[in-house]
Amino acid sequence: MTENLQNDLILRACNKLPVERTPVWIMRQAGRYLPEYRKVRKKADFLTMCKTPELAAEVTLQPIEIIGVDAAIIFSDILVIPEAMGMELQMLEGQGPNFLNPIRNKTDFRNLKKIDAESSLKYVLDAISLVKRELNGRVPLIGFSGSPWTLLTYMVEGKGSKNFSNVKKLIFNEPELAHEILDFIADAVTNYLSAQIESGVNLVQIFDTWGGILSPSHFEEFSLRYISHVIQKLKRDGQPVILFAKGMHDFVKLANSGADVISVDWTVNIGEVRKITGSKVALQGNLDPAVLYANFSTIETETEKVLRSYGYGSGHIFNLGHGILPDVNPENAKFLVDYIKNNSSKYHKEIEI
Ligand code: CP3
Repeated sequence: MTENLQNDLILRACNKLPVERTPVWIMRQAGRYLPEYRKVRKKADFLTMCKTPELAAEVTLQPIEIIGVDAAIIFSDILVIPEAMGMELQMLEGQGPNFLNPIRNKTDFRNLKKIDAESSLKYVLDAISLVKRELNGRVPLIGFSGSPWTLLTYMVEGKGSKNFSNVKKLIFNEPELAHEILDFIADAVTNYLSAQIESGVNLVQIFDTWGGILSPSHFEEFSLRYISHVIQKLKRDGQPVILFAKGMHDFVKLANSGADVISVDWTVNIGEVRKITGSKVALQGNLDPAVLYANFSTIETETEKVLRSYGYGSGHIFNLGHGILPDVNPENAKFLVDYIKNNSSKYHKEIEI
């Protein structure tokens, strides 16, 4: 990586190198809370946006210019992998994603196509090249994928779920088949993230949104194991990996996954997590996304609590504990980012503890 970045705060924080202030970005920062996003979205449906590099690049850049975050994240979705495997994906207005023919048995699984990102997900790689050109080194670009387990839950359930009955039936009744599919998905994730890195992303995040629905031993068996495989096999040249495993609170286990950064949700105290994980990993998080519904003064108080909780020294990337909510006022997101930029240097003046 010999790229000249004007702002590499996030990359330094991932490696726990000294920074002048805490870097900040927002999960789901390119999205419906921005009127500028909704304007583009009026012209095209969600999947068309993902598949049209010019549109994907346009909305990727919006939060850099409007909110002032320290990194861009490529506009896409975790569900483009199963879609590329041949699963028909519908994004229903107000209902979220829906696969018309979920994977429920061996035959369904056998019908999935093995992906090669260079051809079947070329549109994402093209969007990455375009964004890199337009960013021109202003901030790093984050690539991403769902974890094998989180992708499996969507592929088996077909959509979001309350009890995850179908995917739970699979792991309890046909664990060998579950492992076979997870292996297949993990290969796809490794290939896809490696291709994103090859196309120029500076770091990647793995979203394990549904890791937290598993018991501790099943989390290890069906989720973490495959995340670790992916991280180990990833073709990278110094690009850090962030792991977001929502609702999973065994931080020692997460810190041993091979990820450089663990992204924590808002139900834990980030300072406590720092004590548990020690010098092993950097941490990302963890403001409750709903804080952005509050007034500036409350946002300030709650943000300061997170900064103070992490404490002095590098290794903290400020973020929400999950994605920004679609009905948040963009002014509040901008206030949060400005607040971090103007008030976090005090945590970087002392000697690291
Ligand atoms: O962070 C970013 O700005 C990059 C874009 C991004 C999207 N989805 C765009 C999107 C990222 C990183 C994702 C990840 C994603 N997608 C996850 C993991 C993160 C998480 O929030 O837990 C998951 C579980 C999905 C699956 C998904 N995609 C759902 C459940 C939904 C519907 C619910 C929702 O939040 O809207 C989507 C659609 C989606 N993905 C939208 C966006 C901007 C909204 C689509 C629209 O414009 O109608």
